[in-house]
Amino acid sequence: MTEPSVPHVVHITGARPNFPKAAPVIRALDARGIRQLLVHTGQHYDPIMSEVFFEQLGLPKPDVNLGVGSGTHAHQTAKVMTALEDMFQESRPALVIVYGDVNSTVAASLVCAKLGIRVAHVEAGLRSFDRTMPEEVNRVVTDALADLHFTTSADANVHLGAEGIDEHRIHFVGNPMIDTLLANLPLFDSDAARARLDLEGPYVVATLHRPSNVDDPVQAAAIVKALHAAAERVAVVIPLHPRGRAALQEAGLFDHERVTVTDPLGYVEFIGLVRGSAAVVTDSGGVQEETTMLGVPCLTLRPNTERPVTISHGTNRLVDHESLVGALQEVLDADPEDSPVTPPLWDGKAGERIAKIIAGVLAVN
Ligand code: UD1
Ligand code: UDP
Repeated sequence: MTEPSVPHVVHITGARPNFPKAAPVIRALDARGIRQLLVHTGQHYDPIMSEVFFEQLGLPKPDVNLGVGSGTHAHQTAKVMTALEDMFQESRPALVIVYGDVNSTVAASLVCAKLGIRVAHVEAGLRSFDRTMPEEVNRVVTDALADLHFTTSADANVHLGAEGIDEHRIHFVGNPMIDTLLANLPLFDSDAARARLDLEGPYVVATLHRPSNVDDPVQAAAIVKALHAAAERVAVVIPLHPRGRAALQEAGLFDHERVTVTDPLGYVEFIGLVRGSAAVVTDSGGVQEETTMLGVPCLTLRPNTERPVTISHGTNRLVDHESLVGALQEVLDADPEDSPVTPPLWDGKAGERIAKIIAGVLAVN
């Protein structure tokens, strides 16, 4: 995107949810003529977890791929840190933009804080208040270190204020993930998704990858049992994240004739599938938001959510493996909502708002 030696902004991406969040910000900064460099840490590397988003979202090819790959939290985070420290010592960015709550995000924030490089956190202030989630640790640390906080919902501003972040650093801008959803709306073809997977009649989409759900064989088995019970009522399609594949297969996930397990899907194919579904069962963060915008009922298989606006203003509801089937039946029996209420500022313009604020910050110093 740009020569590294000239003043520039660096985007840190690495894992699947980063790409739809970064795309509108990159586009909006580009429209303002701001020099940018796109770093891919390599945290996700399978083409279907990474490359497909670059193709489908029109993202520029990364200028740098750190190739860190998989590993324990410390190993993965440390690899991103050492590679970025080397890179930033050679050419200092004017600002580094980090996204969401993945290990690549916190790693970049730590490096920048030590080198005195400013950090902007997109999707700041979300809190599940559950420190057993690796993402919660990443969010709290990233927000403590960031200089600019771009938030997607008003509750995030409150959390940041309670943690002592100066209000002048906090900007409620809306949701760039939703910018991407709205920009691509005409491409999400539920008939094509249905035909591709040979689905007839109503179906439910499920996605699972949280360590708390898929790493522990006992919990994985309980969830598989609940999904099989759901499949007695409605077909269940599961585009399966690589993390949980072995444990869920071992727990018998594939052994039900109305459960279809696929590899992860490309973004356009995935949202097309979700758009045509009767309901979604998930532990994903992004999917809670996307279902809210699409008006598709969402049952989140978690004890908490860092995205309560998807409950107060959306279609989301928290369930566990015991309440899942009852909640699903209620959703299947309910009349569809006429016009879903959507969260404030989820209007497709978050990227532009972020770019405007960044341009202002870069102009004054
Ligand atoms: C990461 C994020 C999580 C996010 C998720 C999105 C952290 C701590 N977690 O979780 O917040 O919700 O991405 O999808 O950053 N793997 C592959 N191919 C890949 C990538 C991963 O097979 O391209 C497998 C590897 O076995 C790897 C495992 O998935 O060990 C977990 O990958 P990792 O990036 O460590 O965490 P995720 O569970 O993907
Ligand atoms: N997604 C996709 N294909 C899939 C599953 C998910 O393209 O098979 C998209 C979906 O739009 C979601 C995003 O990937 O919002 C990131 O989802 P993930 O659940 O991996 O991460 P999280 O949001 O939980 O951090």
